[in-house]
Amino acid sequence: MDAKKLIKEAIKAREMSYSPYSKYMVGAALLGKDGNIYTGCNIENAAYTPTNCAERTAIFKAVSCGVKEFEAIAIVGYAKGGVPHIGQYAAPCGVCRQVLMEFVNPKEFSVIMANSEEDYQIQTLLQLLPMGFGPDNLK
Ligand code: THU
Repeated sequence: MDAKKLIKEAIKAREMSYSPYSKYMVGAALLGKDGNIYTGCNIENAAYTPTNCAERTAIFKAVSCGVKEFEAIAIVGYAKGGVPHIGQYAAPCGVCRQVLMEFVNPKEFSVIMANSEEDYQIQTLLQLLPMGFGPDNLK
């Protein structure tokens, strides 16, 4: 898994952010086990609650293309016109953690929270969502 390549794609995806309300721009790049990268940005809405995070945009793009197995996701988020703060990252929200839980092995899946190709932190989904509820619980 090439973390820097995924971060580069997330930085590009962030440019597509539609965030006129929060002015907080987020990009995500999700690496499928098929080797393809699925990107996403946050998409806000005047009614606020329909807002979709960058991570879920990427996941839903991939799943709707028939890809349901993933290795890693890179996330880059900071305010429009601002600069990222070193060591401070956009961590996925609880809903996005749960959506990831549906498709990945939390022990193996890497979440790369990044500001740049040089400034990032990697955690497994298990670290971000301990004792998560997933498809295995329903077996
Ligand atoms: N947001 C994301 O897209 N991903 C995150 O990891 C955190 C939050 C978006 C949602 C909303 O458009 C904006 O950032 C402010 O919460």
